[in-house]
Amino acid sequence: MAGRVALVAGASKGIGAATAEAFAASGAAVVLGARDTEALASVVRRIEGRGGTATAVRTDVADVASMRNLVDRAVATYGRLDAAFNNATDGPLPAPLVDIDPEEFDRGIATNIRGTFLGMKFEIGAMLRNGGGTIVNMASGAGLNGVANLAAYVAGKAGIIGLTKVAALDYADQGIRVNVVAPGPILTYHLEAAGPEAQRLAGLSTPMRRVGTVSEVAQVVLWLCSPLSSFVTGAVIPIDGGQSAGSKPPQMYRQGKPMSPQGPEGGSSAGGGTGGGP
Ligand SMILES: NC(=O)c1ccc[n+]([C@@H]2O[C@H](COP(=O)([O-])OP(=O)(O)OC[C@H]3O[C@@H](n4cnc5c(N)ncnc54)[C@H](OP(=O)(O)O)[C@@H]3O)[C@@H](O)[C@H]2O)c1
Repeated sequence: MAGRVALVAGASKGIGAATAEAFAASGAAVVLGARDTEALASVVRRIEGRGGTATAVRTDVADVASMRNLVDRAVATYGRLDAAFNNATDGPLPAPLVDIDPEEFDRGIATNIRGTFLGMKFEIGAMLRNGGGTIVNMASGAGLNGVANLAAYVAGKAGIIGLTKVAALDYADQGIRVNVVAPGPILTYHLEAAGPEAQRLAGLSTPMRRVGTVSEVAQVVLWLCSPLSSFVTGAVIPIDGGQSAGSKPPQMYRQGKPMSPQGPEGGSSAGGGTGGGP
């Protein structure tokens, strides 16, 4: 990415901060947007401390003028825009649908769907002016399948997948590629704060039996923004330890045989027996 200019919307912490740092480590000048200016400044300091180049811009992705300003600042500061990662999310805490406050629902949709739409609207305009570019949007496994208690989040992430496909088709013949990543459980503040039991259960929900790291997401985003993925557009890329491939129960039952707590025939249960249980 040397000589390139990359923008990350939702870059103050977690996956966004890690991806901004990865862009910088690969040689790109990076423009970071989010609402928390102190957190953004500390990411910029980390990047500059390693010899990288970065600028922070206070941004609310759901606000037209603010999102336009983020893109304008990238172009004004570094002369062009080559890559963008629309990563911001916000919204209600998990609750059954009936209990979700409509204002909170709107906030989830505004950050995810409107924020991604506005991001692409201004990023694509800037990229067309310098002959092309690459965009990665952030969805989730929760945009591919329903997850109980996450109405706004699931609707928002499913919307981002739809928006990505349309943008990819609209600009496929104009040098702009647009893809979307769909991570499974990744260890960021939310899962860290939830504690070891939540992390253990999240890990068990994946066939790899572990949660992912922010770096594992960042590296896929970088690949999607690099020439190594030059014929990939409109794709939904899972980063989920196999979760979207199907289910891998901790233990399979064998037809007509009782399942013991220790696993098949009292042996190790990891990976299951040979029966045809679901
Ligand atoms: N962690 C996971 O397990 C996981 C799994 C699948 C998908 N994802 C997705 O990956 C992305 C990052 O997740 P994370 O765990 O790193 O989350 P996070 O730590 O909560 O980061 C969210 C980022 O979005 C920014 N943001 C929120 N609302 C914004 C707004 N209106 N305008 C600008 N920036 C805004 C936040 O910054 P400010 O608060 O400073 O504005 C923050 O930088 C999210 O889209 C999430 O849905 C995460």
